[in-house]
Amino acid sequence: MANLTLKKKSLLKPRLETQNHFAVNMSERLDVLRLGYRKGRDPRITTHLALVSRAMGADGFLLAGDEDKEMFDNLNSVSERFGGDLKTEHVSGLGHLKKHVAEGGVAVHLTMYGEPFRKAIPKIRRDRPVLIVVGGAKVPGDVYKLCQHNVAVGNQPHSEVAALALFMDAWFGESASERTFEDARLVIEGINDGKLVHDNEISKE
Ligand SMILES: C[S@@+](CC[C@H](N)C(=O)[O-])C[C@H]1O[C@@H](n2cnc3c(N)ncnc32)[C@H](O)[C@@H]1O
Repeated sequence: MANLTLKKKSLLKPRLETQNHFAVNMSERLDVLRLGYRKGRDPRITTHLALVSRAMGADGFLLAGDEDKEMFDNLNSVSERFGGDLKTEHVSGLGHLKKHVAEGGVAVHLTMYGEPFRKAIPKIRRDRPVLIVVGGAKVPGDVYKLCQHNVAVGNQPHSEVAALALFMDAWFGESASERTFEDARLVIEGINDGKLVHDNEISKE
């Protein structure tokens, strides 16, 4: 086990780390890349990943693996009703990741083998575009090497949706789960009993 750790460390390339408690810049874009999508097996969990991305502050949701126009149409319909402008795009997984890093972007891979997220987040640069990478059934070894940060939300196997939500909550603070969209047609007012939905198009009439 000790040997394994040493070997892995020696494979890691120099990282883009900064102690980043100051000069926090929230204006750089943040995208989520879902690797290895299988249209026959993963649509529900992948839709949930995209919904968490949108709700908690991502600018884009990028899908690698199978293409799925229907899923993108559903996501665009959520944005039309509830607001925001989540960019959806099908990309080549490793190709996109390599280009992002080569252009100076920061890549954060969520993996149970990574560094604990609360310890990792202060070291991740916020002054460059950030790509959060979540895996599918099998994550190619190159992903661990290409990403400057391999980050764990607990070192147990669980769900990419849970990992993404907890990471984004820690990254954005409460502005993640409290996010609102100025251009929303439907706005939900949270209450304890029943449903209260304001339809801005009806109230304009
Ligand atoms: C169901 S897991 C499958 C992992 C797969 N066995 C592998 O080769 O890594 C799918 C994805 O969920 C995310 N994930 C699962 N547990 C995690 C954890 N504890 N911390 C961070 N991400 C996690 C990772 O992005 C992972 O690639």
